Amino acid sequence: MFREGLMTDERILVTGGGTGLGREMAEGFLKLGATVYICGRRQNKLDETAAELMAEHAHDSGGKVVAHACDIRDADAIHAMVDSIWADGGALTGVVNNAAGNFISRTEDLSVNGFNAIADIVMRGTFYVTLDIGKRLIAEGKSASFLSILTTWVWSGSAFVVPSAMSKTAINAMTQSLATEWGRYGLRFNAIAPGLFPTKGMSSRLNPGSGGDNSKNDLNPMGRAGEMHELANLAVFLMGTGAEYVNGQTIAIDGAGYQANGGTFYPQLQALGDAEWDMMRQMIKGTNDKDKADRAT
Ligand code: HXC
Repeated sequence: MFREGLMTDERILVTGGGTGLGREMAEGFLKLGATVYICGRRQNKLDETAAELMAEHAHDSGGKVVAHACDIRDADAIHAMVDSIWADGGALTGVVNNAAGNFISRTEDLSVNGFNAIADIVMRGTFYVTLDIGKRLIAEGKSASFLSILTTWVWSGSAFVVPSAMSKTAINAMTQSLATEWGRYGLRFNAIAPGLFPTKGMSSRLNPGSGGDNSKNDLNPMGRAGEMHELANLAVFLMGTGAEYVNGQTIAIDGAGYQANGGTFYPQLQALGDAEWDMMRQMIKGTNDKDKADRAT
């Protein structure tokens, strides 16, 4: 879809780039020659992803992938990571705010910690990354493209994922606000609102027990979930050169699921009772505990 070498001059940070949608977008940029920095909480996972992507694409494209363990809830850790990115070759040309946390829950079952676990990553962490990098770019007079991965819940809200819907809506407001405030510095801000693009992290927390196969989607007008290359192509379009006048937009890529059915969990989850919610909570806990154990290694 894009010409070879389109992103040779791009230096892009993808938060949450070790897995899921972040990894797919990182791969899309690398294939076109970009230097891609991926960060996340699990060093072993990041190293594995970087090695796999380099082995598959770096030779052909001339790009590279560099992994940094960094929890975006920690502003000091972000600062140190961005220092080392700058030391590795200068200013970034793009940032993909992709790292997120989410799980389905009845809102009355949430604790303050549960709310913060999501809001600290999605709302605060995304802002910390944007602020740290934005300040440096403004000081150096460098232009760049910022892209945040949101959901259509920023337009509708969503039952059973309220901390995520609130936090992503805040980042939608950041996108629109900074598109205007920092446009004069050559910094542009857009967002993508993906519909269902099944990933392991998402399926295990938003559709626990599904076994990870969510590729069919009878409720969607196109009868299917999204395919990763479709998302990566839209990200390349927004991060690369040639469409710089696109600024301040949140673009859905969901097969018109939002128009057809609102794109939320309400229809599937509103009838569940205590026993089913307890069971799902246990399954989600199993995933979270496993991820935590991985982070400890
Ligand atoms: C209620 C829960 C819970 C659940 C955790 N908590 N799971 N409460 N129901 N199912 C509560 C815990 O009890 C605890 O509160 C608090 O949340 C923090 O839990 P931890 O496990 O210690 O959190 P932490 O290790 O920081 O993990 C963060 C996380 C986790 C957000 C909870 O899910 C995570 O790391 N996720 C990253 C990957 C991810 O979520 N991917 C999916 C993204 S999908 P107490 O009070 O007990 O201390 C997405 C949008 C998709 O973003 C859109 C599709 C259309």
